[in-house]
Amino acid sequence: MRVPFTWRPTGWFMVGWSAEFPAGTAKPLRYFGQELVAYRSDDGALHVLDAHCPHLGAHLGHGGRVNGECIECPYHGWGYGPDGVNRYIPYEDRPNPSKRLRAWPVDERHECVFVWHDPAGGAPRWELPDIWNFPAHLPGGAEQYYRAYPELSVKYPGEPVHPQVTLENAPDSVHFKYVHRASVDPRLLDWKVDGTFYKTISGWPRPTEQDPDAMALKIHGVSCGVGGSYAVFEGSWHYRLVFFTTPVDDERSDMFYSIWWPRDEGDDAPAVPAHYRERAEKEFLQTLRDDLEIWRYQVYVENPALAQQDARPYGALRKWARQFYEVEPA
Ligand code: FES
Ligand SMILES: [Fe+2]
Repeated sequence: MRVPFTWRPTGWFMVGWSAEFPAGTAKPLRYFGQELVAYRSDDGALHVLDAHCPHLGAHLGHGGRVNGECIECPYHGWGYGPDGVNRYIPYEDRPNPSKRLRAWPVDERHECVFVWHDPAGGAPRWELPDIWNFPAHLPGGAEQYYRAYPELSVKYPGEPVHPQVTLENAPDSVHFKYVHRASVDPRLLDWKVDGTFYKTISGWPRPTEQDPDAMALKIHGVSCGVGGSYAVFEGSWHYRLVFFTTPVDDERSDMFYSIWWPRDEGDDAPAVPAHYRERAEKEFLQTLRDDLEIWRYQVYVENPALAQQDARPYGALRKWARQFYEVEPA
């Protein structure tokens, strides 16, 4: 997809789920056109560094070994700390601290792994919200939900979709009927730009209700930069979702989607029961596939003719998104 803005936005981006990074292992990643290595050191902390060893260029994600808090190159055994600085050279008396790898800030929360991307290499300028405290009047906790990974999580790798396009779904009230075969039109009840967050409240009216303001369900959404969004359902069930889109390069993204399903009282099994998994498939994962069928083949339209009720929130979203584009498109 050709877009008039960069595929290298600043912000937090999801790169996987915590369980995919077991202690003592290193794994290659590729995002924003850069080769990376993720490793979980023996103390349980997860680190992401540029992948290529400054000695002779080996890829630390392919055969690199975890040694304490360091990652050790598979080629000649040089060790690097979580800050990316060379800590030892096994056949020399001292390390060479001028040899270093860029360290990418990591935030692991609610089973997900996020990295901070800033094309200029700067430190994080804002924090992701806590999904258990969003929105403020609907607090929850991990113990009230089945785990999201792996049963209720999917990844679509290498899709030709820019992250902003996925966020544009939130203020697009018309597409639900056509793409998701919704029997009632949702209404965007409220939306607000709040610094690095774009928040929405969508309402689903009761089909039989006379009162047009009576909602069967509200969905609270927050886009956390352009990397992705959280959604929390306020209805008879309080599902929580994350959906993040992380550019692999200037043409493709990996997409990550997770659902937290409310736990049955008294059930302390970690995994969601099969009948809920089936419902998640029909009610949630299918909607993502429906959207993806559009996004995969869509072109970006700069001045769209929008439905009247969508025009302002849509325009506000696009304007808000510009703050994350600090470099020119490639
Ligand atoms: S290439 Fe990494 S130690 Fe030589
Ligand atoms: Fe959608």
